[in-house]
Parts: sequence; structure tokens; C-alpha cells
Amino acid sequence: MRFPFPVAAEIPLYLAPMAGVSESPFRRLCRRHGADVVVTEFLSAEGIRRENPATVDKLRFGEDERPIGVQIFGADPQAMGDAAAFVTDVFQPEFVDINFGCPVKKVVKRNGGSGCLKDLGLVADIIRAVSRSTHLPVTVKTRSGWSEETRDPVGIALHMQDAGAKAFTLHARTRTQMYTGHARWEEIAAVVDALDVPVIGNGDIKTPEDVVRMQRMTGCAAVMVGRGSFGQPWIFDQAKALLRGEPMPATPAVEQRFAIALDHARMVEAYEVDPVGAAIEFRKHLGWYAKGLPNSADLRRKLHAVKSFGEVEGIFGDYLTRLQRGDFGDAPTGADDSSELESAAA
Ligand SMILES: Cc1cc2nc3c(=O)[nH]c(=O)nc-3n(C[C@H](O)[C@H](O)[C@H](O)COP(=O)(O)O)c2cc1C
Repeated sequence: MRFPFPVAAEIPLYLAPMAGVSESPFRRLCRRHGADVVVTEFLSAEGIRRENPATVDKLRFGEDERPIGVQIFGADPQAMGDAAAFVTDVFQPEFVDINFGCPVKKVVKRNGGSGCLKDLGLVADIIRAVSRSTHLPVTVKTRSGWSEETRDPVGIALHMQDAGAKAFTLHARTRTQMYTGHARWEEIAAVVDALDVPVIGNGDIKTPEDVVRMQRMTGCAAVMVGRGSFGQPWIFDQAKALLRGEPMPATPAVEQRFAIALDHARMVEAYEVDPVGAAIEFRKHLGWYAKGLPNSADLRRKLHAVKSFGEVEGIFGDYLTRLQRGDFGDAPTGADDSSELESAAA
């Protein structure tokens, strides 16, 4: 399936847009560990067109993140078009993605995100307005419907394709479901059958094996990984190998895992202007990196109190010394605990 922008992989792996997580340093890290395409967290069209400094700041990205999409949300077609024009002129990403999936109350109450799903006429107006305002491909990300009663992923997808969407990402849950229940992968398969444009499958990928299962079950052109990347960016490299029919690279052992976490921390330190705020914000990532490790409750408690990146190195060093001394018994050292990952994202 031809993508609307150049991408090397046969079945590209996307890092999902995630507010507060898929920021520039994490996007770069995931690109280094095998993600083929990244997307910014959702950004308000009003904030962009008014050049709100906090919003514009989140538009910064490095060349090593490309191909990258900037995701925008809003319910006013004119504002969405203006935002797309600004993003195109100033930042030149590979594509502009429209968020029609966000379930958060503050957003849907103004008809942004999945709120738009209640008015498909408005959805089409937004896609057309954005497409008129940029020469870049315009893609969309949405859910299966607003509620169980109005669940209609194929109808929604065809409507968005007709309005000009050049690729379609489905998180196969409704807005009312938020993050409960399961993503219905059979809905992704139905949309793949119905559309001419590439479909990106999304929802409940927790392991590299899940990537292969989703792709085989649905025939989707690409797979998007969200919460499954938390604390384990190497999931992309592992999934890639499996998709190619090659043996899966081993899950990094504790020492390598800490080295990757520190690499991530250094990128955050270089990117953010407020070092204390950045270290505090980074605590959630540290918690995810520590999940499933022996004696992880104690490790996480320490990591959740850090106020500087320097402290992290010390905590990791102490932990490794104790691990090597055998203080934690002979518990496994590299196992991932996906049930913990799930609860972290709920
Ligand atoms: C913390 C968090 C923030 C998110 N922010 C966004 C966002 O900004 N834009 C968006 O389209 N989806 C957002 N999502 C939804 C994800 O992109 C994805 O659709 C969802 O998590 C399902 O995929 P997963 O099961 O692989 O996590 C967010 C999800 C999480 C957990």
C-alpha cells in the first residue's frame, strides 16, 4: 500500500501520538529503536494559529525524527486550516494529522477530538479546510464511533476518505469506552477492506507478537503502538524482526535498560529549558522503565522522588550493585510485565 509520504519499511510501525509522552525526546528515542513514523501529541489549532508560545514550543522536532506528522485538533474548520498552513510554512513535517479521536471531556465539550464524531458534516468540512490549506498529505486518526449505538467504523472511514483523508488510523474503541474493554481488531479489518487509502491499525498492542497478530488478522498497512512503548521503546525493533520473519532481538537486560533510560533522560535534559520541571515530568518514564524488575516497588519509589537527572544515575548505580550482589534473590532481570503497563496507562 502506497503511503502519502516516503517511508522505508514495508509495514511501517508508528509511535502513537500521546499527550505528555510522545514529545520530541521520546519520539527520537523510538525512531532510534525502530519506529518508522512518529506523530506529535495533539496540539490545539487555536493555540497554533494564535502562536501561543507553549503550543508552538511543542511543534519543535529534530531532523532525525522524520518522517513525522503534526497532529492538530479543533472544531472550527477555519482555525484548523490556519493552523495547518502555519505548521506547513514554519515546520514542514511530512504530514498533518487530524485528531478525531480524543475522548477527554475538556476537548469533546468544544466538539474537538472524538466530539466531532457526533457531526460527520463538520468532520468533512474540517478535512476539506485543512486539505485546502496545505500541500502536505492530510491524514486522520479516529475511534470506531461516539457510542455503542452509533458505532460505525466503516461508515466513518469512508466519509473521511471521501472528504480527502490520505491515510486513516483507527483506534477500534468508541469514545464512550474511553480506554476500557478491548479494541476490536475485526473493525480494523473491515475498514481495510472498505478503503483505498492506507489504514493504520491501533489499539492494545502490548508485545512485539501483538504487532504481527494485528497485521496478519487485519491486513492493515501499518501498525501504531501507544502504551506498549512505555518504558520499552525496543518493542519496535523486536516487532520489526518478527514481521520480517527473523528471530526477535532479546529484551534488554537491566543494565541495558537503564542505559536506554539514561539516553532518554539526556535527550530530555538537552531539549527542555526547565531542568527541575523536566526531571519531575520524567518520573513517569522512569517508573515505566523500572516496571517488572526485581524489587521494583522500592526502585520506583526512589525514582518517583527525583528532582534532577543526576540523581537517576546514582539510583540506577546503587540498584545494579545490589542486583549483582544478589540482594533481590534470583528473580528474573529483564522480564516485562504487561499487566502493569496496562494499569499505568488507564
Ligand atoms: C497518555 C496518552 C495520551 C494520548 N494522547 C493522544 C493524543 O494526543 N492524540 C491522539 O490521537 N491519541 C492520543 N492517545 C491515544 C493513543 O494515540 C492510542 O490511540 C491509544 O492509546 C490506543 O493505543 P494503545 O492501546 O497502543 O495505547 C493518547 C493515549 C494515552 C495513553
